[in-house]
Amino acid sequence: MTMHAAMRDAAPARPDPRPGPSSPERPAAIACRGLWKVYGPKAEKVAREGVDAPGHVTAVRNVSLSVARGEMLVVMGLSGSGKSTLLRCLARLVEPTAGDLRIDGVDIRALDERGLVRLRREKMGMVFQSFALLPNRTVLDNVAFPLEMRGAPAAARYARAREMVRLVGLAGREDHYPRELSGGQQQRVGIARSLAIEPDIWFLDEPFSALDPLIRREMQDEFLKLKGMLHKTIVFVTHDFDEALRLADRIAVMHDGRVEQADTPDRVLLAPATDYVASFTRDVPKARVVRAATLAEAAPPTPDAPAAAASATIAGIARMLVETTAERLPVIDEAGRVLGSLSRARALDLLFEDDRR
Ligand SMILES: Nc1ncnc2c1ncn2[C@@H]1O[C@H](COP(=O)(O)OP(=O)(O)OP(=O)(O)O)[C@@H](O)[C@H]1O
Ligand SMILES: [Mg+2]
Repeated sequence: MTMHAAMRDAAPARPDPRPGPSSPERPAAIACRGLWKVYGPKAEKVAREGVDAPGHVTAVRNVSLSVARGEMLVVMGLSGSGKSTLLRCLARLVEPTAGDLRIDGVDIRALDERGLVRLRREKMGMVFQSFALLPNRTVLDNVAFPLEMRGAPAAARYARAREMVRLVGLAGREDHYPRELSGGQQQRVGIARSLAIEPDIWFLDEPFSALDPLIRREMQDEFLKLKGMLHKTIVFVTHDFDEALRLADRIAVMHDGRVEQADTPDRVLLAPATDYVASFTRDVPKARVVRAATLAEAAPPTPDAPAAAASATIAGIARMLVETTAERLPVIDEAGRVLGSLSRARALDLLFEDDRR
């Protein structure tokens, strides 16, 4: 074997694009430690000492988070809890007051303006809460704009832009101006525009908030499809818990600038880290979210008990739970392998807790 071949064979495997906690083998796409954003004259002092001061607003408070490559983190919280500010800090659109911030391992707080612009142009896509469309450009030109900034030839950028406009359901409106569109339509132009460049990292701030429920759901489905296909890293802000539960790999619950918990939807519901998270999720119908796999334990199933599919929600197996008398149901994966068993009593508790709401 030649030296070259030996070196090639010893090269580390490409990182696994599937979501999951980051590790040395699967580096975080985004990682922050002790991130603060304080507004006010003595912002640095407030962040350093961690004590609120009159005349200051602490929008982001000592946040440490990481988002693995290909993962979708949904940032949740009430109005004013700091979601938009956190998102903007992560893209360094807002200058953090303190803390460490890395994108693909690069310390982006150390980048100068040019480095930052290049990083954004090459890697990041953004959809803002306000649509930020160019008023003097048509729908098509708005969508093609980031490609133009990248120097893509006209034919290629318009072909791509047309495809994106169609994807968001605005075919036929290519030549309209933003002022001729409804709020929801403008929002869709913003989504199409940010998709046009196929960003690696996608920041979305309430991208569906101006859409009516039907289109919103369609966009969510479209979104899940894209996410599955493209393995993008996504940070998505919403204050709609249903939306978070549908889309998230993990949910970060914010309160008063703090991330109170960043965890899988199942765990946010079943094992809230703080009283605030518990009260925030109290009204969510848990049986419709929690999956059989989450309740699976190592104990052996009751012989002849009916099996629950790991991916089924507890609400989805309600009939089975009510009709059987077996104490423990096997939980099986798609290949029929038994992953463990779930306690029928515990599953019924989840089900009826929801009915008492
Ligand atoms: N430029 C600024 N100067 C001073 N305070 C600010 C500034 N921007 C944001 N804030 C404050 O920071 C806090 C967090 O704001 P942010 O916009 O991040 O909240 P949010 O969670 O996105 O809310 P919403 O759901 O309403 O969009 C708020 O109290 C807000 O008033
Ligand atoms: Mg906001």
